Amino acid sequence: MCGIVGVLGTHEVAPLLVESLKRLEYRGYDSAGIATVNRGKLDRRRAVGKLVNLSDLLVHEPLAGTSGIGHTRWATHGAPSVTNAHPHQSGPVAVVHNGIIENFRELREELAAKGQSFVTQTDTETIALLAHQYMLEGADARTAAEKTIARLHGAFALAFLFDGEDDLMIAARKGSPLAIGHGDGEMFVGSDAIALTPMTDRITYLEEGDWAVLTRTSVEIRDANGQLANRAERRIQIDSTRVDKGGHKHFMAKEIAEQPRVIGEAVRHYIDEDGARVVLPRGEIDFTKIRRVTMVACGTAYYACFTAKYWFEQLARVPVEVDIASEFRYREPPIEEGTLALFVSQSGETADTLAALRYCAGKATKIVSVVNVPESSIARESDLALPIHAGAEIGVASTKAFTCQLTVLLMLALHASAQRGTLPKEERARLLSALRSLPSTMVTGLEINAPTETLSRKLAEAQDVLFLGRGPLYPLALEAALKLKEISYIHAEAYASGELKHGPIALIDNKMPVVVMAPRDALFDKTVSNMQEVMARGGKVVLVTDEQGRAEAGDGVWETLIIPHVDPVLAPILYALPAQLIAYHTAIAKGTDVDQPRNLAKSVTVE
Ligand code: AGP
Repeated sequence: MCGIVGVLGTHEVAPLLVESLKRLEYRGYDSAGIATVNRGKLDRRRAVGKLVNLSDLLVHEPLAGTSGIGHTRWATHGAPSVTNAHPHQSGPVAVVHNGIIENFRELREELAAKGQSFVTQTDTETIALLAHQYMLEGADARTAAEKTIARLHGAFALAFLFDGEDDLMIAARKGSPLAIGHGDGEMFVGSDAIALTPMTDRITYLEEGDWAVLTRTSVEIRDANGQLANRAERRIQIDSTRVDKGGHKHFMAKEIAEQPRVIGEAVRHYIDEDGARVVLPRGEIDFTKIRRVTMVACGTAYYACFTAKYWFEQLARVPVEVDIASEFRYREPPIEEGTLALFVSQSGETADTLAALRYCAGKATKIVSVVNVPESSIARESDLALPIHAGAEIGVASTKAFTCQLTVLLMLALHASAQRGTLPKEERARLLSALRSLPSTMVTGLEINAPTETLSRKLAEAQDVLFLGRGPLYPLALEAALKLKEISYIHAEAYASGELKHGPIALIDNKMPVVVMAPRDALFDKTVSNMQEVMARGGKVVLVTDEQGRAEAGDGVWETLIIPHVDPVLAPILYALPAQLIAYHTAIAKGTDVDQPRNLAKSVTVE
């Protein structure tokens, strides 16, 4: 939800901190700030709103210093304001924080009783005050930080800086990711590798409960028990974290356009050269021993799981339960013998999904994750992590990660069908061939960009939009509704077409567009009947279908979007394109911030 960065550098750090924060801004953008040790004293600059406001401030009020920390915020406690912006400082202590301190009120009472006073409504200020209090009681900087970290409950990634300590930074990680970057005579910390790649490709990921004492030339890591810990230093591929728009107006547009290529990457990674079978990397799942699959995720990743339910049940004949992580983790469902627990997460750091995974650990037969960040917490805590190879996804609205998740999940379902002998070989071969052709089908599918832009100008005038779908196009309709609402701010919802008569049809009037996602498949005729019921009541139907579908049912609809024919099993992946492009162009017509929509952040690392 927030991004943090720290630098013990050899040059002025303010520009470097801002450059890193730019790479973290997708995590939260309510406010931003930096602090440095400037001639031995802590000094701060903070600004509300986008990072550019901080950059502007630094032009007028430069901040010197070769050691510093920075933060870009998604507000959890306290409104977005300069006062509530990080870094927070108390006396000789400054700190930046990603996460939520759950016992901050208790700590505030304790500190107030000792005469400390507060100027913000944030949980993070309590961290600075607590460390300051320990220093007032005689602790040195390192001990004060260590004692403070030990008192904190909840989730946090932290970086501390101290007055008079130009070559010392304390970092800590519990529930929120944090990485250390190794430079030549410099040291860095960051919420993820993307933030650190302007400085280094040598990364060490802190583990859960770790805290670290950094100088420009040393890193001392201690685990949750205070024991020295040796964490691997790895080199990351710099280009894998390249974050530019590639000539597109928005990251989202770039990432929509990247889908044919990255889906091809994913397919090549899992289907062997002769195209005859799916091969899992670095590990195996014996689906003959799996009696049930439980899939857990949030948001778009949840809709990917919901879609995959159809595939696992129809192709591999294995029962599947799909759950929203925030519900699953507190319902504590029984996990029976023979359960495969499958977690899908683009970031691999979503707090609720990680908590659900931890609930299943030791209960499920196997913990498998489908992630876009192989070194993420969810990946590291899985028995087997399946990468989706989508590349860095910066737009807050997930696009290429969604279709890559679907592609990997479909291949996994086909792999399960092969092991369980539930699908005729020719059928599986046909689907594998369709998957290998999918990238070129997606290229053709992207040709709806222009007609979608025209349609979206009309949709932008709507107050409400309803999406309908049947079979695996029902979760796709749910995803389409999420895409539209999260970036255009238009209220949108989705229903299974067959559900319309059970209530939602009361919504139908001549104002609310009804977008029907309907390839010409076995359920098409049923959906056409639902469409007719909508149009008979003056409803404005947007039919998203293929040529055959239009020929059979295109008369009388308000608008149509025609996309290529594809094997019905693969339709949810292809129909993600109109879902994404409708949202994208409608948001542009509405003038909203496509890549950084209001109130959202890319990675929800707090619950
Ligand atoms: C999708 O467009 C949203 N940004 C959001 O629903 C996202 O899918 C959800 O927060 C899950 O994130 P994850 O895949 O990183 O776990």
